Amino acid sequence: MLDNAGSRFGDIFTLRLPVGANGIVLVANPEAVKEIFALGPDEGHAGKANIVLKPFLGRHSLLVLDGAEHGRQRKMMMPAFHGERMQAYGQAMLDLAHDSVDGWPIGRSFVVHRPMQRITTQVILRTVFGVAAGPQFEELADLLAKTLDAAAWPGLLFPFMQKDLGPLSPWGRWRRLRDRASSILHEEIRQARSNHESRNDVLAMMVAARDESGRALSDDEIHDELITLLVAGHETTATALTWALRWIVPNRELTRRLQDEIAGADDDPAKIARLELLDATVKETLRLQPVIPIVGRVLQEPMRVLGWDLPTGTWLAPAIALIHQRASLYPNPRRFDPDRFVGARPAPWEWLPFGGGLRRCIGAAFAIYEMKMVLAAVLSRVSMRLVKNEVRTVRRSITLAPDEGLPIVALERRPRKARLRAA
Ligand code: HEM
Repeated sequence: MLDNAGSRFGDIFTLRLPVGANGIVLVANPEAVKEIFALGPDEGHAGKANIVLKPFLGRHSLLVLDGAEHGRQRKMMMPAFHGERMQAYGQAMLDLAHDSVDGWPIGRSFVVHRPMQRITTQVILRTVFGVAAGPQFEELADLLAKTLDAAAWPGLLFPFMQKDLGPLSPWGRWRRLRDRASSILHEEIRQARSNHESRNDVLAMMVAARDESGRALSDDEIHDELITLLVAGHETTATALTWALRWIVPNRELTRRLQDEIAGADDDPAKIARLELLDATVKETLRLQPVIPIVGRVLQEPMRVLGWDLPTGTWLAPAIALIHQRASLYPNPRRFDPDRFVGARPAPWEWLPFGGGLRRCIGAAFAIYEMKMVLAAVLSRVSMRLVKNEVRTVRRSITLAPDEGLPIVALERRPRKARLRAA
């Protein structure tokens, strides 16, 4: 639908959906999106555009906050997601991916989105929540997977469906799971307050963070941010990884080039993170198949966009998926061609899978690092084929995912190479 509307109406058009005063104004022009991403904290609100997420994530979630409160909380969370912090998380990401590969069935088809979801959930538990392997890790992983699954039904986004009619009703089931998960999360926060100095996970950094007036994040704020990081970070990254395999696996030449490049990195996270073709492959996957096709801003003052005077209250949506398909930026845009990103640095309004400006995804560096670790583990050890060569795109809640979770067959698995260490 977006593709059709984009080719019919061009760089700016309105979708008459029952949101905002007059629907949503889609913007598919990079220069105009650059101006939208430059809006200040009191000029364009993303929290208002994400409001349907509030009952799921909580009122303190970064995704639903705006203005000064958003700025305060984002500043306190950012240090845990800076690029250089990724070194601390890389080994866990790589180990969890190898553990997953060890359990893949050989010679029969399975849905590869599932192990990807499990890896990304486990990565968050380990690196964000700081939960070490063991029975508590397994229990929390299982409970969170069930909770997220129960919330994935799109019907629950409608307020009239958000009624607790007992444990068998969709909302009732979700509320009960969420309450159990919440009490475990509160226990994790209590522990982190007592031992954060000896830890290096995101939760420990959030507990230690102070704002300009010396105030810490409250338990409720941290609780809602933990849920947010899990929800924003696990399904998105798992879906992006599944898309990457959809394009790499049938392309023998690319697979061979990636395997050669990965073999030279000695299973070392820092070296893997710097591989050029792998980096370009991740970027090209997120260009051709952006997991989130649009982002939203609600104007807090009037704005002129591409010659149109838009009043306060207008819902604007930079159309990531349409900008990524512009032939002037990406010749032959439907072709999967990682080489277009080798040695190239696209402008942030031309390659924008993580949105942009003050609201750009806080986990972008984390997601890219994780995708590289997982792809390195998988491609270095498993030969695969797709069950179907035609793969349709389907909508799963707010993400665009490969149809049926991409069934694949793993043909052969090689053992993990012992890491070469300097003597
Ligand atoms: C491939 C994986 C991912 C994709 C495609 C993605 C995409 C996005 C997009 C499009 C936004 C909205 C940006 C905007 O409005 O301009 C966003 C926001 C956000 N993402 Fe991600 N994301 C990914 C992974 C992650 C991860 C791993 C985390 C954390 C562990 C994360 C945490 C967040 C948070 C907290 C926000 C809200 C930022 C704010 O409002 O200030 N995301 N993400």
